[in-house]
Amino acid sequence: MNSTGAGVNQAKILLVDDDPAILAALAEYLQLHGYLVEQAMNLKMAHAALEKDMPDIVLIDYQLPDGDAIEFLTTLKHMNAPTKCIVLTGYGTIDLAVRAIKEGAEQFVTKPVLLSVLTSYVRACLEKQQSQRKILAHKLVGPRYEKDPFQGSSVLIQRLAEEARKIGQTERPILLQGETGTGKGVLAQWLHRNGPRAEEALVDVNCAGLSKELLESELFGYEKGAFTGAGSSKLGLVEVAHRGILFLDELGEMDLQVQPKVLKVLEDKRFRRLGDVRERVVDIQVIAASNRDLRQSVKEMKFREDLYFRLNTFQLRVPPLRDRAEDIPVIANSLLRDLAKDLAREQQELARSAEDALKAHSWPGNIRELRNILERVALTCDDCVIEARDLGLAKGVSSSGGHSFGSGLTLAELDRQYIVRILEEESGRVEQAALRLGIPRSTLYQKIKMYELADAQAS
Ligand SMILES: Nc1ncnc2c1ncn2[C@@H]1O[C@H](COP(=O)(O)OP(=O)(O)OP(=O)(O)O)[C@@H](O)[C@H]1O
Ligand SMILES: [Mg+2]
Repeated sequence: MNSTGAGVNQAKILLVDDDPAILAALAEYLQLHGYLVEQAMNLKMAHAALEKDMPDIVLIDYQLPDGDAIEFLTTLKHMNAPTKCIVLTGYGTIDLAVRAIKEGAEQFVTKPVLLSVLTSYVRACLEKQQSQRKILAHKLVGPRYEKDPFQGSSVLIQRLAEEARKIGQTERPILLQGETGTGKGVLAQWLHRNGPRAEEALVDVNCAGLSKELLESELFGYEKGAFTGAGSSKLGLVEVAHRGILFLDELGEMDLQVQPKVLKVLEDKRFRRLGDVRERVVDIQVIAASNRDLRQSVKEMKFREDLYFRLNTFQLRVPPLRDRAEDIPVIANSLLRDLAKDLAREQQELARSAEDALKAHSWPGNIRELRNILERVALTCDDCVIEARDLGLAKGVSSSGGHSFGSGLTLAELDRQYIVRILEEESGRVEQAALRLGIPRSTLYQKIKMYELADAQAS
């Protein structure tokens, strides 16, 4: 066999030993297990190998002709490399081992050592390295995703910030309401980061589009044999979120029959896995979000009143972009900064005309729509200053309400004409048009069919 599993088997190992026979035997053994092996017979060669290509692991004999492993470890430490070191020795003493570990060695092994044991040390080192990388990656990635939900100085957003700070310390349920794309998801993450459960998990469940069965098994898990196909038991997300936060996104879409079970978890912290006789206890905080007005849904019998009352004590309303037009330049500039970083290009700036156009647009898709438009401009416009014409926004659809449609139209005609215009402006791209209209693509397709608009294309 010539492999030890993907990922691990491409690891680079540097062997340092002054005994050519040992070196050759070890190299052959490790290569056979799929590792890439470099060899060095003394410290000088070992240092040279470090300069050339940083290995993942170094297996080094303690005593070498021109120095010892401690010297090597010190060099490695100064290089601040993620390389892990295993020190081998013919005459191990506790004192030596302690010194080596203090200098950063991962393992201290006394010869003779079984090759299989040695490879298991190598594997353990690689795994540790990998998990350290993950933690690091998380730290590096973290701040980029830590979006500020309160950008801008408008009264509306500042009021939201103030309320969020007050509410943020509670462990009671929180309900986030606001139009699509206003940043409810971003706000939920902020509440998690700044709340009492920041060190615990934030588990995200999208309630839209999941059938009753699927949503229930996702949320509450099941026991083996609970239904045909349940070959083993499964942990529910409610359990995964234990001590942390369960974020129920698009709660307005949750099946009516699942709602009482969610209420039960909220009220007495208990739930039952499907097919289980036992009740389990969990400690979760629920943050829910909806772009529907849930009070209205209650009136229409689409949402349970008791669940609504349970959730609505702490409510945050995220304002639509058109109600805080003054914040748009600040938000747009920060989005452009992120985009420039992502695309590794110079940051673009907004000309005055572009700022005015952005402020005048009605933004049915809110920040999501704004980001999409800026993304397109960042990708397609080479200039460093973005002018109004680069944005390709509809003229006349302004937040102040002025538009160019005749007042004698019926609502359906108005709807049709507006859709035609947006489709034209988006060259028939349904995806883009739906985004700008702030409606799901499927709804737009229905309307295209209903109004017999043939030219639109799927994109
Ligand atoms: N303050 C912000 N800074 C940067 N990006 C943001 C901000 N708010 C929202 N966005 C971006 O806009 C998009 C929509 O945000 P989010 O998903 O939080 O909105 P939402 O209110 O949950 O929308 P929906 O109801 O459609 O789920 C995301 O891509 C998000 O990254
Ligand atoms: Mg969302």
